[in-house]
Amino acid sequence: MTIALDTKPGINHQRISDMLNRNIILAPWLSTEGKINRISKEQQELILALARRLNENRIRRIKMLVVDERMFVSEAYALYMHAEFLKSTAIYLSSMKLGTLRVTDEMIHVADRLLAEYLKNYGSDALVNNYMLIGSYEHGQLLEFYKKVPKEVYVSGRWHRPWTEFPLDGELDYAISQSAVKIDADGLVQLTDRGREIYQQVKQVLVNTGYLQQRARWMRISNFTNLEDYDEVIETLGPDAHTMRRKLIHMSGIKPGMRVLELGCGTGTLTFDDGLHQIVGATGSIVGVDLSAGMLARAEVKRKRLGIENVKFVQSDAENLPFKFQEFDAVVGFGFLHFTNIPKVLHEVVRVSKRGAPFVTMFPLQFPASQDFFQEWFGDLLAIQEQEDSNVLLHSDEALESVGDFFRDFETFTTEARIPYDNPAMVVKFFVEVANFFDGALSRFPWRARQEKINELIERGEVIVAKYGRRNLVSKHAMQWIRAVNS
Ligand SMILES: C[S@@+](CC[C@H](N)C(=O)[O-])C[C@H]1O[C@@H](n2cnc3c(N)ncnc32)[C@H](O)[C@@H]1O
Repeated sequence: MTIALDTKPGINHQRISDMLNRNIILAPWLSTEGKINRISKEQQELILALARRLNENRIRRIKMLVVDERMFVSEAYALYMHAEFLKSTAIYLSSMKLGTLRVTDEMIHVADRLLAEYLKNYGSDALVNNYMLIGSYEHGQLLEFYKKVPKEVYVSGRWHRPWTEFPLDGELDYAISQSAVKIDADGLVQLTDRGREIYQQVKQVLVNTGYLQQRARWMRISNFTNLEDYDEVIETLGPDAHTMRRKLIHMSGIKPGMRVLELGCGTGTLTFDDGLHQIVGATGSIVGVDLSAGMLARAEVKRKRLGIENVKFVQSDAENLPFKFQEFDAVVGFGFLHFTNIPKVLHEVVRVSKRGAPFVTMFPLQFPASQDFFQEWFGDLLAIQEQEDSNVLLHSDEALESVGDFFRDFETFTTEARIPYDNPAMVVKFFVEVANFFDGALSRFPWRARQEKINELIERGEVIVAKYGRRNLVSKHAMQWIRAVNS
């Protein structure tokens, strides 16, 4: 089979977004190998056997490819590509649907079914093209960041695609044939002007199809799932969190007997630890929704320990709720709205809540970058972040524009919460790695550079703690509150 990388937005849009909708993924961040061996030897063999079958059944006819230069895709490459899709999709499904780090055989078979259906609809050329687009993005990101890398590094994928178990020399040959990269006399690979142009085109396709945003989200949700000590982390980094959650419950005006929806419920802190369940009482009920199966599993442990029957947890995206029209008397959500597509969430809130139902939420705004220690610690990331479009943390008017589109009646204000920065490992793990608050800046970093940056920030934090003293490392962070009524 021969194929050429197609970067046309129109052609790519449908087949990439459909791949996303079907939960077929190549999300390397989820397969941070080395931390834990998620797939047993037997499962590796199962994946290869299924990949072989997918490869044999693939539709060989090449359609939609209109570029002249072609890359030869060997049987081995195609086999490996299917295996990589199967593996990442199975890791993703196990983490998202089951909340486990270990992959189950069942999820490998589900991944196989998803891929088979996709291949039936689009043919293998589309899958190869998607694979190569994503791969070219990683290659381009590597060379943009490091400028020159040894050929062996490029081909092994060690710095940018460590999950790859197949030598990437075919991809290097292809990139050379496209005049996208060149190798200098010292054996160092670098982008050409043409290569930089292709990288920008590829990046644009992955931005426009929503792939990169979706990948950042997968990474975040899987990091929440893996964060076993979430409650302890928030106790440390958010000493005002309990007080703020109780304030949110108070502002909502929720009364005994109401049916309440809690969005982004996490480990159930608002419901169990901070009193929402006590307020709705035995005659009311609460449904907690979160995308992270791991967070929900922790909430469920609390529910069982307390023997509470009228609270239920549902794994779902707040942007697409599995509930009927006007099911709830109130909707609340603490510290989650900034992670979502706000208009989509508000549309769902209005749909599932009754007329007159309150919606109350609170979320952090952008970092207060004015303090010296903060600048010293995160200034380089903040500077890159300013040049990028994407920022998880919102500025003060950003959410309000959407709220005004969905609610005629709402009030808003900001308060300040204390955040102690004296535990560098925890600060960096939560703000940088899990919540990914510097997503815009870090989107420029290939895999290895990202890991190195995280370690460097922890070390820098320790120097800052020694320099300023623990007690001087408390920052005041702006929190935005919104109380709206569905009219
Ligand atoms: C900072 S935690 C807050 C958890 C909890 N509300 C609390 O007060 O501790 C954010 C939560 O939002 C969840 N989340 C992020 N995006 C989401 C989405 N689109 N739909 C549902 N939950 C989401 C995360 O999985 C995580 O559990």
